[in-house]
Amino acid sequence: MADNDRTSLHGLWTSRWAFIMAATGSAVGLGNIWKFPYITGENGGGAFVLIYLLCIFLMGVPIMMAEVMLGRRGRRNPVDSMRHLAEETGHSQLWRFLGWMGVTAGFFILSYYSVIAGWAISYVFTTGSGTFSGADAALVEQHFDTLTQSPLTLILWHSLFMLITMIVVAHGIEGGIEKAVRFLIPALFVLLIVMVLYAMTTSGFAEGLRFMFSPDFSKISTEGVLKAMGQAFFTLSIGMGAIMVYGAYLPKETSIAQTSFIIAFADTSVAVLAGVAIFPIVFSNGLEAGSGPGLIFVTLPLAFGNMAFGTFFGTLFFILLVFAAWSSSISLIEPAVAWLIENKGVSRIKASIALGLLTWVFGLGTVFSFNEWSDVTVFDKTFFDVLDYLTSNIMLPLGGVLMAIFAGWLMKREASQDELALGRGAYLTWRFLVRFVTPVAVTLVFLNAIGVFS
Ligand code: TRP
Repeated sequence: MADNDRTSLHGLWTSRWAFIMAATGSAVGLGNIWKFPYITGENGGGAFVLIYLLCIFLMGVPIMMAEVMLGRRGRRNPVDSMRHLAEETGHSQLWRFLGWMGVTAGFFILSYYSVIAGWAISYVFTTGSGTFSGADAALVEQHFDTLTQSPLTLILWHSLFMLITMIVVAHGIEGGIEKAVRFLIPALFVLLIVMVLYAMTTSGFAEGLRFMFSPDFSKISTEGVLKAMGQAFFTLSIGMGAIMVYGAYLPKETSIAQTSFIIAFADTSVAVLAGVAIFPIVFSNGLEAGSGPGLIFVTLPLAFGNMAFGTFFGTLFFILLVFAAWSSSISLIEPAVAWLIENKGVSRIKASIALGLLTWVFGLGTVFSFNEWSDVTVFDKTFFDVLDYLTSNIMLPLGGVLMAIFAGWLMKREASQDELALGRGAYLTWRFLVRFVTPVAVTLVFLNAIGVFS
């Protein structure tokens, strides 16, 4: 058997849809519904959204294709896939550090992701108990503050979320995710539409739309540009090996380009719908668009508290958000779990428990960022801010661009042509994007953010 026909140790996806579902499950998560609105709000709206969209299609999609391709050719965890591909193409073994950087980034992200997902779990219960019925802005803001000021409560929900993540990972990721995501993403979509319909009835709808879609470049800082790019990587789950691992389980005949487009399209639609639902609520209630990580936990309860059947829709919404976060969190830890199994001969269950505990402990840093340690800052950033900044804005773009460089410059042309199986024009476009556009763009954005051009 030729080496590139080798299949993965963990089996293959049962169908193209299984892969699309799992990858979309990974992509759609807190990044779309929690992070996208709040960082759009912090970075002035329209211009940020435009740059984000450009980054999705000019860098995100081609890099996603490169990452899936590297995974499918490597057929292992990211560290060993990179090591193997470097060997196959006669390049330095140092490429395995790209895998390591990804494993580390995934671990960092999950540690805080789980804490925020914990907020969402807690909101299932608060919304479900009718607490927000008829609530005004002061009440929901106060509820959010009380929650984030209580480390013990945050730890409780963080623990629960880590536990459910590790249970799925311990079982092997193929079966469950596929079934859950199949109804989850469509259901989330429908609920977001309900929210948008509600937003249309509020007085701030036009202003919300204007905020999101009319770009005013004077409102975006050089760092805002970096954040828009970082968000594009974060939301698509690219640059750390999550998609590479999922690609490792992908059958040879599946079209990488087509699946990548479907995933990016679904992911982007969810984020844009979330923004369209949230900003009108911000403006109709005189809230602050740039209020930070609490944005959806204040705006959404306000909407649910004041719409018909709000308790029902609200509870369902937060349940779906937890599921969306769950199907993402799994992919953040799967590369590390796959590495432990493949290299240390550890069982899947043991690997999951060990890594889960480690992530849980690290997550405590994020818990305390919102209360006890909120004054402990480096460059004005809390522990949580540092993790988020380092992973989204530095590690993911760097990882993604190195994958693009590997796929575009180091892999043999015949190999990528064979893997992607595209028409000539499409292939050349992809190759141009990964060879030139993405490395140059990422470099410029990095330099710009550290002030080289100002
Ligand atoms: N994309 C997910 C979200 O938007 C988060 C996520 C899951 C992720 N896996 C990833 C981000 C891998 C970066 C890399 O919520």
